[in-house]
Amino acid sequence: MSVETRRAVLVSGATTGIGRATVSLLVAHGFAVFAGYRAPDAAAELERAGMGVIPVRLDVTDAACVAQAVACVRASGMPLLGLVNNAGLALGGPLECVPVDRLRDVFETNVIGAVALTQACLPLLRATHGRVVFVGSVAGRVSWPYSIPYNASKFALRAVADGWRVELSSSGIAVSLVEPGNVRTPIWRKAQAAADDVVTSSDPDFLEVYGRHMRRVLAGLAEAERSAMPPERVAHAILHALSSTRPHPYYPVGARLALVVAALPPGLRDRILRALLER
Ligand SMILES: NC(=O)c1ccc[n+]([C@@H]2O[C@H](COP(=O)([O-])OP(=O)(O)OC[C@H]3O[C@@H](n4cnc5c(N)ncnc54)[C@H](OP(=O)(O)O)[C@@H]3O)[C@@H](O)[C@H]2O)c1
Repeated sequence: MSVETRRAVLVSGATTGIGRATVSLLVAHGFAVFAGYRAPDAAAELERAGMGVIPVRLDVTDAACVAQAVACVRASGMPLLGLVNNAGLALGGPLECVPVDRLRDVFETNVIGAVALTQACLPLLRATHGRVVFVGSVAGRVSWPYSIPYNASKFALRAVADGWRVELSSSGIAVSLVEPGNVRTPIWRKAQAAADDVVTSSDPDFLEVYGRHMRRVLAGLAEAERSAMPPERVAHAILHALSSTRPHPYYPVGARLALVVAALPPGLRDRILRALLER
């Protein structure tokens, strides 16, 4: 099949982790993939993922960049079958200490950026009765202490996906939310660095209040990363959402424990979370 007649998918945050694994899987299944990157040197690396990868510069927080990336898809003449809103960043730390500008950055990327990119793609997706996939998280089901900025953004993304799924059904566009548990990607290292930064830039009095729990949480991050699943598992769920005749509204992947905790009565859930901090 020539690239010109192949069905295309646009993936944001395609350079590493889940995005990168998704690009490889989609290319292997014959899709043409517009792979979003930010760092200038990432384009060449993405091209190595195989024939059919078309790197596009895409910062989801930059309106001009979003418009340009979507214009590039349109100009290709390929029908856009799907959009994978994967770009995201993690931020933790005691909420009292998190500068609100950092909180804005998380929402700008994880929520508003995903909405802006989807808005820009909808005319193309309407023409194909295409698919929108949001990469949410189990963090959108339970708000873990010391991870509130990230979790709040993923709760918001879940609200976006739920409402949009119904609004867009009349356009024949299916919306799915993929909700992974812990996945082995660079996000853990970035989250650790961001949390360290929040702690070191905080008033020393806050360390008095939160330091012990924070150390426990940071140790827990390292443990969670060690036992995390490979990103390919999530990529397979994304492929199903894009290619199945009956895409699911939700794709929990390695998320069983979080779903059980989410369903607990709040009093019991809080006791469990407090006990985990005190371990
Ligand atoms: N890893 C997990 O355990 C896990 C679990 C559940 C959900 N998720 C979600 O999975 C998604 C992918 O994360 P990952 O784990 O694969 O981590 P990752 O390897 O750090 O990938 C995040 C990607 O998002 C990109 N990105 C960040 N800000 C962006 C922006 N403003 N515009 C465009 N791209 C941006 C990054 O690009 P740069 O390389 O340029 O920074 C990177 O390519 C995220 O939405 C994350 O919340 C991850």
